[in-house]
Amino acid sequence: MTDVLRSVADARAFSAGHHVAGRRVALVPTMGSLHEGHVGLVRLARQHADAVVASVFVNPTQFGPGEDFTRYPRDTEGDLAKLASAGADAVFLPDVATMYPPGHATKVTVFGLTEVLCGRSRPTHFAGVTTVVLKLFHITRCDVAVFGEKDFQQLAVIRKMVADLDVPVEIVGHPIVREADGLAMSSRNVYLSAAERAAARSLSAGLADARRAWAAGERDPRALERLVRARVEAAPGADVDYVEARDAADLAALDGPAARPVVVALAVRFGKTRLIDNAVLVPNQ
Ligand code: PAF
Repeated sequence: MTDVLRSVADARAFSAGHHVAGRRVALVPTMGSLHEGHVGLVRLARQHADAVVASVFVNPTQFGPGEDFTRYPRDTEGDLAKLASAGADAVFLPDVATMYPPGHATKVTVFGLTEVLCGRSRPTHFAGVTTVVLKLFHITRCDVAVFGEKDFQQLAVIRKMVADLDVPVEIVGHPIVREADGLAMSSRNVYLSAAERAAARSLSAGLADARRAWAAGERDPRALERLVRARVEAAPGADVDYVEARDAADLAALDGPAARPVVVALAVRFGKTRLIDNAVLVPNQ
């Protein structure tokens, strides 16, 4: 039985009940329209805690003007069924007024990490994410929270916020979950036409090219970027926002051959749909 919590007080009471019994609470924050990747997050959360609460909230503050907030896919009934079968104990399902009551005037910003990669074309996005995630941490009083590694930069930003603000929440990443043909699972994949869906396979194919080159000894970040870009740009309709190889630990730009783990991250538009993906390349692998 999955409890549906709609108010801050309900969410607090849920975790208080577990904490008083000495149980750990995990949070899986989502924007709903759940897929197999989210189910994996819930399962991993279960391994780190005794009780799991998933939040479903399409957070308006992380969408920029002209982005897809109003058309973002919403499927509350389907989400509740999926979370129940994934084993979530509770779902926090607030409305906008609960999360941002009239007069709300505070933002949480992580500087530096948010100005590169996705932050360049979505300059207000990460402040929206960190604001809502910190609120969700305080509301659910979770001990651990699980995020997907497809949003690699988001995960890095959240880890930084947690470290900088001494937030007592353990952050756990879940590996990217992919469709059979390699496309990273995303709630936004439903926007793709059949032709765009076929072309979008070039993202994981390009990253696989980079993995092969890395395994063969390529360490030049520009060469890795060129390989991925060439594969993606060959796909019909692909409009590349960025393809960048950066230090996986701190997203720093790389000027010379990579000696530490590297993330090759990309964002590509197909029509109105913007997809992201990444591969982490580790020395000696
Ligand atoms: O990754 C997402 O779905 C969202 O950015 C998150 C973390 C739920 C915050 O709204």
